Parts: sequence; C-alpha cells; structure tokens
Amino acid sequence: MDECRGSKKSFMKELCITESTQETEALGRKLSEELKEGDVVGLVGELGAGKTCFVKGVASGLGSVGYIKSPSYTIINIYEGGRLPLYHMDLYRVSSPEEYDSIGLEEYIYSGGLSVIEWVDNVAGLADECTILVTLKYSEADGAREIEIVRREGK
Ligand SMILES: Nc1ncnc2c1ncn2[C@@H]1O[C@H](COP(=O)(O)OP(=O)(O)OP(=O)(O)O)[C@@H](O)[C@H]1O
Ligand SMILES: [Mg+2]
Repeated sequence: MDECRGSKKSFMKELCITESTQETEALGRKLSEELKEGDVVGLVGELGAGKTCFVKGVASGLGSVGYIKSPSYTIINIYEGGRLPLYHMDLYRVSSPEEYDSIGLEEYIYSGGLSVIEWVDNVAGLADECTILVTLKYSEADGAREIEIVRREGK
C-alpha cells in the first residue's frame, strides 16, 4: 500500500505500521476499495488502539455520508449513502455469545451490507465468521500502531 510504510505484504496477510491517526484512517480507506457486500471485518485491539479511527477510514472510502443511530446505538451505527451500507458495531460491552444473540446483530451481518465489528474477540467464535481480521497494536514509538490485516479466503 502506498500509504503504508514498512509493509510486508504476503498473499493473504499484511503488516503495516502507521504513525498517525491520519495514516490509520488512510489504511481503512484503502481497505474499503476491496470490500464487497457480505464482508465481515473484525477488529481486535486494546482500548485506544485505533479501531474506530480505522472504521472512519472505511466509511470515508465507501463515500458514506453519515450515520443513523439505531435503537441499540451504543452497539451499532449504520452508515448510509456510500457504495455499500456499513454496519459499524462495537461489542466492548457485550461479553457473551448469549448476550450477542439477544441483541440480534446477526440480522445485520447477513443482510447484504458490510459489517465492521470492534471488539470482535469479546464474543467467542465470532472472529471465525469474519472474512477479514484486522489486529491493531501499540507500537514502541509514540503515536505508532502495528496493524495486521488477514484476509480469510473462502469465508
Ligand atoms: N497511529 C495511530 N492510529 C490511530 N490512532 C492513533 C494513532 N496514534 C495515536 N492515536 C490516537 O489513539 C486514539 C485511537 O482512538 P480510537 O477511538 O480509534 O481507538 P479504539 O481502538 O476504537 O478504542 P476503543 O476500544 O475505546 O473503541 C485516538 O485518540 C488517536 O488520536
Ligand atoms: Mg472504538
């Protein structure tokens, strides 16, 4: 990727270092170009790792014009007006598969848009359903993040 310094690109896995919020957003924007209907992008990373920042890039790359707060707005926001509807979910406060099932998010995931899920690892088994898994880590340098993108073929 042009914006990505230190990229070790292999067939399905890519490791990038970003050095600012802008670079993380640009990486999300770049990824959005390859995303298609039905894709589920899982985001893993500690508090403040840059997951939301990455999602903002995806939304901007799709050309989304804004989001609608749904009834369970703390968990899902829907961005419309772009190339694909974007379901942005944040499972920070969801800690069990039972709780996840009761919210009814599966309905969105399989409704033909693009789902991007922060804290996907909070719900056991959900990461396995992702077509792309993005892991963000704090890097030693201030303001830098290591971002791994794994494309899971056949998903
Ligand atoms: N390289 C970088 N990429 C992304 N964010 C960075 C970077 N360097 C510093 N930051 C800062 O880290 C924070 C990332 O916030 P963001 O909300 O995206 O994290 P998050 O992973 O979604 O956290 P949460 O788990 O609370 O949802 C912001 O304050 C941002 O300015
Ligand atoms: Mg976030």
